[in-house]
Amino acid sequence: MAEVLGVDPAGIERAAAILRAGGLVAFPTETVYGLGANALWAEAVAKVFAAKGRPSFDPVIVHVADPGEAAKLWREVPPLAQKLMERFWPGPLTLVLPKQDVVPDIVTAGLPTVAVRMPAHPVALALIREAGVPIAAPSANRFGRLSPTHHEAVLEQLGEAIDAVLAGGATPVGIESTVVSLVENPPRVLRPGGTPIEALREYIPDLRVEPPQGPSASPGTLPRHYRPSTPLFLWERGAPAGGEALERSRCGFLAFQQAWEGFAQVEVLSARGDLVEAAARFFALLRKLDRAGLAAIVAEPVPERGLGLAIMDRLRRASSGRARLDETRVWIVR
Ligand code: TXA
Ligand code: MG
Repeated sequence: MAEVLGVDPAGIERAAAILRAGGLVAFPTETVYGLGANALWAEAVAKVFAAKGRPSFDPVIVHVADPGEAAKLWREVPPLAQKLMERFWPGPLTLVLPKQDVVPDIVTAGLPTVAVRMPAHPVALALIREAGVPIAAPSANRFGRLSPTHHEAVLEQLGEAIDAVLAGGATPVGIESTVVSLVENPPRVLRPGGTPIEALREYIPDLRVEPPQGPSASPGTLPRHYRPSTPLFLWERGAPAGGEALERSRCGFLAFQQAWEGFAQVEVLSARGDLVEAAARFFALLRKLDRAGLAAIVAEPVPERGLGLAIMDRLRRASSGRARLDETRVWIVR
């Protein structure tokens, strides 16, 4: 059962220690409770998805205690972002900009951008400062359930799944932050929320609010969103039945627990068969294989339980089909 911590200095110190050790702490923000993990530690963030029971990875918002910290996560801070931070931070406005390499891929679900906000809640700010790291946090609810606006609601849904909750009572805003993408020109509201559009329009007169069409539409729900540039095939058991074949020595292999023979490059998701670790490493290893100049990538399916469901969801979207193997070749199943 989660530790219930008071929002005094002792409670905040304890919560920060749990975060630094890779644990999960739910904490109040001005919008809703967030389920926090050290944003710079992929495996800690993977635990957030496991605790929420999310069937898929979604990009997660990173919480910082001042604009200077955001600048360390984004590749650059355009003048418009600077102005919006000055006017709306701390507060329920999340800004999306290209990320730096320190942000693990699991935080952004493989996207090249990261969403960052500075919450306007004294407990959240004290926690981030005490932890000394940015905190990745989706809303602290189980998948598909309502966002919690009181620590009792967090305990009801996630009490068994997390390490601690900071008992801050009711959250003042109660709906999530407004998410604005500054990657698009003109900028676009990806999710309406706690910062009104009208207030944003004073700074961004041509701000778009209609849902995005085409390739930028809701990340994580597009069937082909995660497809690498190297063709990827899901390995299936069975003898090859003819068709097109590639030499194994020109292909890469994404393995679950054990390296396989004969491939040009093999990456192992988790030698100890831990799906949380596998999820934490998944996007990064897939990108590594994708950059290796291979003819194809073959991926071994992982068990479809826990975070394995999310991994398989991404693998299916990433794949161009299935492949069978013989000793030396990869046979594409058409
Ligand atoms: O108020 C809030 O924003 C709360 C508190 C805890 O801060 N957090 C929250 O997180 O609502 P979550 O994970 O439930 O929602 C995050 C939203 C999703 O709609 C997600 O798609 C979007 O932000 N998002 C995150 N990173 C993104 C990115 N790199 N590009 C586009 N959208 C992104
Ligand atoms: Mg949510």
